[in-house]
Amino acid sequence: MKRIAVIGCGYWGPNFVRIFTNLPESEVKYCCDLSEKRLEQMKLLYPHIHMTTNLDEVAADPEVDGVVVATPVRSHYPVAKKMIEAGKHCLIEKPLCASSAEGEDLLALARKHGVSVMVGHTFLFTAAVNKVKDLLDAGELGEIYYVNSTRVNLGIFQEDINVVWDLAPHDISILNYVFGADPISVSARGRSYIRDGVEDMAFITLEYPEGKMAHVHVSWLDPNKIRRTTFVGSQKMVVYDDVQQLEKIRIFDKGVDKQPHYETFGEFHLAYRFGDIFTPKLDDREPLKAEASHFIETMEGGKSTKATGGEGLTVVRILEAACDSLRKKGALVQLA
Ligand SMILES: NC(=O)c1ccc[n+]([C@@H]2O[C@H](COP(=O)([O-])OP(=O)(O)OC[C@H]3O[C@@H](n4cnc5c(N)ncnc54)[C@H](O)[C@@H]3O)[C@@H](O)[C@H]2O)c1
Repeated sequence: MKRIAVIGCGYWGPNFVRIFTNLPESEVKYCCDLSEKRLEQMKLLYPHIHMTTNLDEVAADPEVDGVVVATPVRSHYPVAKKMIEAGKHCLIEKPLCASSAEGEDLLALARKHGVSVMVGHTFLFTAAVNKVKDLLDAGELGEIYYVNSTRVNLGIFQEDINVVWDLAPHDISILNYVFGADPISVSARGRSYIRDGVEDMAFITLEYPEGKMAHVHVSWLDPNKIRRTTFVGSQKMVVYDDVQQLEKIRIFDKGVDKQPHYETFGEFHLAYRFGDIFTPKLDDREPLKAEASHFIETMEGGKSTKATGGEGLTVVRILEAACDSLRKKGALVQLA
């Protein structure tokens, strides 16, 4: 039985309290939050869990095996550092931390203290993203040309980060995971319409090895909630729409074939394919539950295979580069 402390019980943290309470291999010993009011609400739901505003109490308790850090991004580093130094395994919400320097320090500390660090890249635990990865790995789509991802809605405006740091970790972690590679360059344009200096919309372009391109549109200023990613391959195309309940993935047998050899424009022919559209059945296991189970496995000495601290640091480096490009009006920033 692994004993967990959930630090930060605002909007997102309570999901982890519910999941670690329900998993047979874990129990939640502490809910920790700076807000007494939040803890009073949590106490009504979970009267048996210790409620505390004191991080040191959690750090000092030898019974706590692992912690979830679900506080605002600026506090991920100091909170996680304290917990790692106290020998606790950490599952840190996305983005891992507020800078690559912080991330490097956290990972070095984790190695020193022999604890595991995972990052809350929740989408890597969805059946839909894993289906796309399987299709790509099996070559079902042919050669991947490009990906277009839209993650927009109205709000929620974050107090300490811009929309790139808030929403793009999802898209970037998905892209890195399904491609099995990190981008080699990034450029981004964005604007702050509501709050000075805090971008509320951005267009990010990433280049991956072998000519694969990805475009990510993130915004807190859109009338519709859209979570749609289109993967365009030489053989097939896939649309992953996370807002859909039943048909999250649609595989289109569509494409354009060109003549392998031609000399004049007159001989140049394109053949358009309009084939079937297929909707695979997906496992409906809650992604956060799969993420929590993976965290327990890493605490038990298992090897972390996804959403590792290293992957979290890579995403932070890409976010930094994207924001560097934003400040330079879209200048290309090399990552490799
Ligand atoms: N994986 C996902 O899909 C997903 C979704 C939403 C949020 N998140 C992440 O979860 C984290 C929290 O986001 P949220 O929307 O729940 O924020 P929130 O502001 O609603 O909640 C944060 C809570 O942390 C508490 N807190 C702040 N500093 C603290 C500290 N030093 N020690 C203890 N408690 C502290 C606050 O009082 C608040 O109750 C962020 O990193 C965010 O990016 C992830």
